[in-house]
Amino acid sequence: MGSCWSAKVKDNVTPPHSSGSNNENIIPARIPLNLRSEGEILQSSKLKRFAYSDLKIATANFRPDSLLGEGGFGCVFKGWINEHTLAPTKPGTGLVIAVKRLNREGFQGHHEWLTEINYLGQLEHPNLVRLVGYCSEEEHRLLVYEFMPNRSLENHLFKCSSRFRPLPWKLRMKIALEAAKGLEFLHSQKVVVIFRDFKSSNILLDSDFSVKLSDFGLAKDGPIGEKSYVSTRVLGTHGYAAPEYMATGHLTTRSDVYSFGVVLLEIMSGRRALDQKQPSEEQDLVHWATPYMRNKRRLFRIMDSQIQGQYPSSGAQRVAKLALQCLCVDPRFRPTMSEVVAELEQLQRYHATATSTTTRAKHELVESYNSSRANPEAVAAAAFHRPCVASVHG
Ligand SMILES: Nc1ncnc2c1ncn2[C@@H]1O[C@H](COP(=O)(O)OP(=O)(O)OP(=O)(O)O)[C@@H](O)[C@H]1O
Ligand SMILES: [Mg+2]
Repeated sequence: MGSCWSAKVKDNVTPPHSSGSNNENIIPARIPLNLRSEGEILQSSKLKRFAYSDLKIATANFRPDSLLGEGGFGCVFKGWINEHTLAPTKPGTGLVIAVKRLNREGFQGHHEWLTEINYLGQLEHPNLVRLVGYCSEEEHRLLVYEFMPNRSLENHLFKCSSRFRPLPWKLRMKIALEAAKGLEFLHSQKVVVIFRDFKSSNILLDSDFSVKLSDFGLAKDGPIGEKSYVSTRVLGTHGYAAPEYMATGHLTTRSDVYSFGVVLLEIMSGRRALDQKQPSEEQDLVHWATPYMRNKRRLFRIMDSQIQGQYPSSGAQRVAKLALQCLCVDPRFRPTMSEVVAELEQLQRYHATATSTTTRAKHELVESYNSSRANPEAVAAAAFHRPCVASVHG
């Protein structure tokens, strides 16, 4: 949930197209998500209202050793509740949850907390994180999510350790596809929500590496009627926000597509969108990588060295082409998320025919990755790498 900066808004922009979608997981009717009072939002029947004392028990009093991490909203703690009654239980029993506690000194606040409840209280999709409930008691504001054992994509791409091994190419592509499906759902005609904070730390990973998008604190309803954009204050995270949105404050679904392009580039390169630890000309990933992405022969120069060359070069070229389209300066020329999903699905089918990937093979992929964390040497030897490299062409 990152609102790291804001900027002045001007009033001149070329109206980009609105996105279309034929997603099957659409909600039955267009709900005016932002037109509800706080009371109506909090009464969402899907969500449990937790007492602060219960969340204290569930997280062992927000003990430092249950701390999962910290973002702009505040700290996130691991906890346990009974899966039926949702009452706090002993650590290690019942349903594992992640409890996000608003830091009152932070730069986010009540509005982001309520926006998250507003959207996640209504939207349901296999690639969106499940919000179990919330707490609003005196000055306390908390959010309770299902726990994602594999944390975020950010952890796996940039914080490699014995816990987070480098992700193999096929798993990266599976994650890209599912994240794209999450955005496609949000952009679908019956929902039209602009996520506005799409980045690798907001792509959470379940035990089988299924993607769950999280952090809807900055999300916005898409334009309604004749309008092709929403005028807003510029909020988001440096390195991921679309240039026209930063310049004008005019937000469209294509702003999310740009951010998706940045994440796709992070997935390919294993580098952060902005990284001050890199030499100055390499700190801005999009700026640095674009010339390499345009040149098939030089593409390998930006590929994550941790994959050790274990990717199909034709596949990488197609992904680079897709990323370039998403990163197009003129939003009108960016693809819709449905088009992105279609291309990534086609790529996956291509690999599947080339390597006879079946559901069993997909399980093996995750299994193999998981066991490689116990035995790092297995990464290089993992069987799923080799046919992929050898058999994909074109
Ligand atoms: N449901 C969850 N299950 C497991 N870990 C989670 C969950 N939600 C968040 N985390 C972890 O908590 C940490 C903080 O997440 P948070 O979403 O608050 O911030 P962020 O996305 O990293 O940064 P920012 O606030 O700038 O967007 C991250 O490391 C993330 O992986
Ligand atoms: Mg987050």
